[in-house]
Amino acid sequence: HLRPPQREDGGILSRGNCRAKGGAPGFKVAILGASGGIGQPLSMLMKMNPLVSVLHLYDVANTPGVTADLSHMDTTAVVRGFLGKEQLESALVGMDLVIIPAGVPRKPGMTRDDLFKINAGIVQSLCEGVAKFCPRAIVNIISNPVNSTVAIAAEVFKRAGVYNPKLLMGVTTLDVARANTFVAEVLGVDPKAVNIPVVGGHAGVTILPLLSQVQPSCYFTKQEVEYLTNRIQNGGTEVVEAKAGAGSATLSMAYAAVKYADACLRGLRGDADVIECAFVASEVTELPFFATKVQLGRGGIEVVFPLGPLNEYERAGLEQAKKELKASIEKGISFVRN
Ligand code: NAD
Ligand code: LMR
Repeated sequence: HLRPPQREDGGILSRGNCRAKGGAPGFKVAILGASGGIGQPLSMLMKMNPLVSVLHLYDVANTPGVTADLSHMDTTAVVRGFLGKEQLESALVGMDLVIIPAGVPRKPGMTRDDLFKINAGIVQSLCEGVAKFCPRAIVNIISNPVNSTVAIAAEVFKRAGVYNPKLLMGVTTLDVARANTFVAEVLGVDPKAVNIPVVGGHAGVTILPLLSQVQPSCYFTKQEVEYLTNRIQNGGTEVVEAKAGAGSATLSMAYAAVKYADACLRGLRGDADVIECAFVASEVTELPFFATKVQLGRGGIEVVFPLGPLNEYERAGLEQAKKELKASIEKGISFVRN
């Protein structure tokens, strides 16, 4: 594309990153799968994030167009596009945070596990790139089935000798956004005023909203608990069916991904009390990965919080969730090992 003429003095930008002089730290973020249904709005929202100084957009299709388009937004982040495997290295070198929404989405009638066949290999090869070119970056996995793809990423990093469990996270923020939205609707309040922890994993019964821990504290009837749990667990399917073959949640997911990525960057900046739910390496249950509240900091995940008190309904849900989660995690591990 057209480039501005060279200034005789080299120009202020060539003498260092003038953006950093304002004192605000700028982080380098790569999005892998940036041209997709999630990738495009996610890239736009990250281009608008003041914590981002450099934004790398990588995909196997269409990144030149998406990059040219977003690069005209007069926000701070410098956008660069990368296309195809031979450009993965340049896309990843120097990154602080890598967000991965690459892979196929569901159609009506499919489970997230039905995506494993295609997405497992995509996540494996992208994580091999991360292990090689930016092993100290935080990695946010969005590609489904998250309950397996996070285990795949961990195995790839272990194999490469670079695994740091504090840097690897499966993004479950959309489950929390849905829980807050649906609960707020029942209570007749602003969703911003509601906070529900959602634990377990990211598929069907593994999505376990802890309605008994709602903030601000309030009481739900048995009928409300059953309605809300079912709606939150099937929120993704609700969107898949409404889109009728045109994919799954993209806009709400981009919103949720940016909320989570922003929390990671605020943690890296050293902000106190940055707490979100995420699917991470965990000792909260006997499973190697589990979603709970985590605290994000300079080193990635600094604290994995325990489940807190559960009622009888939630304890039963937990047992069901763990059974399915165990199988999904093992499937991811054996995909890489075998
Ligand atoms: P999409 O098909 O619109 O976009 C996927 C993008 O990935 C495409 O641009 C494609 O070219 C790219 N891609 C494919 N293989 C690639 C590779 N090897 N390297 C780089 N890019 C590659 O799909 P979408 O709607 O954006 O969904 C993406 C994934 O996110 C799906 O697996 C979906 O199930 C998942 N998802 C997860 C959540 C969550 O809460 N974690 C929510 C919604 C969707
Ligand atoms: C979601 O929860 O919206 C995503 O996991 C996409 C899907 O397949 O439901």
